[in-house]
Amino acid sequence: MAEIGQSLEKAYAVLVKSGLVAIPTETVYGLAGNALDVEAVSSIFAVKNRPFFDPLILHIASKKHILPYISDFPKPLEMLADAFWPGPLTLLLPKSDLVSDLVTSGLPRVAIRVPNQSLTLALLEMLTFPLAAPSANPFGYVSPTSPEHVQKQLGERIPYIVDGGNCEIGLESTIVGMEGDQIIIYRKGGLTVEEIEKIVGKVHVQAISSSKPQAPGMVQTHYAPLKKLILSDKKEDIIVTEPLHTVAFLGWDTYLEGLPIENQLLLTPQNRDKEAAKNLFAYLRQLDEKEITTIYSHLMPEYGLGIAINDKLRRAAYKNIATLTS
Ligand code: TXA
Ligand code: MG
Repeated sequence: MAEIGQSLEKAYAVLVKSGLVAIPTETVYGLAGNALDVEAVSSIFAVKNRPFFDPLILHIASKKHILPYISDFPKPLEMLADAFWPGPLTLLLPKSDLVSDLVTSGLPRVAIRVPNQSLTLALLEMLTFPLAAPSANPFGYVSPTSPEHVQKQLGERIPYIVDGGNCEIGLESTIVGMEGDQIIIYRKGGLTVEEIEKIVGKVHVQAISSSKPQAPGMVQTHYAPLKKLILSDKKEDIIVTEPLHTVAFLGWDTYLEGLPIENQLLLTPQNRDKEAAKNLFAYLRQLDEKEITTIYSHLMPEYGLGIAINDKLRRAAYKNIATLTS
């Protein structure tokens, strides 16, 4: 079992020896290692069981640490960094030679962000290298938003989890980059399209959240809980076909009639997108652990963080083969 605690000295001691620790961020917990150390980066892929074609995000303490890792900083992206760092924004920037192909999966750009979590920012300030950190879940499973989530799934494989409590936002960072003059959102996440467009004007939102080139025949996978998730457009469309005691419901602000209340969770009884985002992954896990076979859910109101929530639900849904983002 991993030790859960708030000792940055302990985390530091592991990281400088090529080891891995879990770190809290405002979005989700990350599985972190020295981004400049091939041994540490390789073990991130191994511990997560993650294919090498899925690149990692670099975490730095502030924008002023970015220069060694990039070869260009287009103005609009720098404006976004100034507006939203530290925060749930990842920028795709042309990489420098210092960043290995292992980190970027051979791609020409590197993903970088400044997380908004005080313990992790303090840890990054202590280090002389950036932390490569994917979400701290086994490949293909929903991201962890508490130290306990990490402990359950990766606790046997890492020595230390930095305890930052529950993640403030609960959805991964929004990934933004440029192709020519066009600003593109590659992954919908904790920073909304509206917030981004306020700074840089109209952006293109990629329909399928993926920033990786899709090779023909490349493995595609669910972004999914273990139980079957059946997703309807509207709550009114849900038709439960299984025995009622074998199903659960994940809703927005109202329960599904006729289903035992103990098998239902509402993302936001107060009808607030931020609250729903914060609860999403934890509730999917809770329902996944129940003695049921199927989770029913429906698309949530399509505004603010509801857009990213729906993207996650679509990926988690049964029969919905989406490109992976794990
Ligand atoms: O909120 C977050 O971003 C969390 C926390 C821990 O910071 N991290 C996270 O990492 O969600 P991960 O590994 O689960 O997702 C990283 C995704 C990749 O799947 C890929 O889509 C994109 O970021 N990405 C990373 N590096 C890239 C690159 N060089 N080129 C294109 N896409 C990249
Ligand atoms: Mg992930």
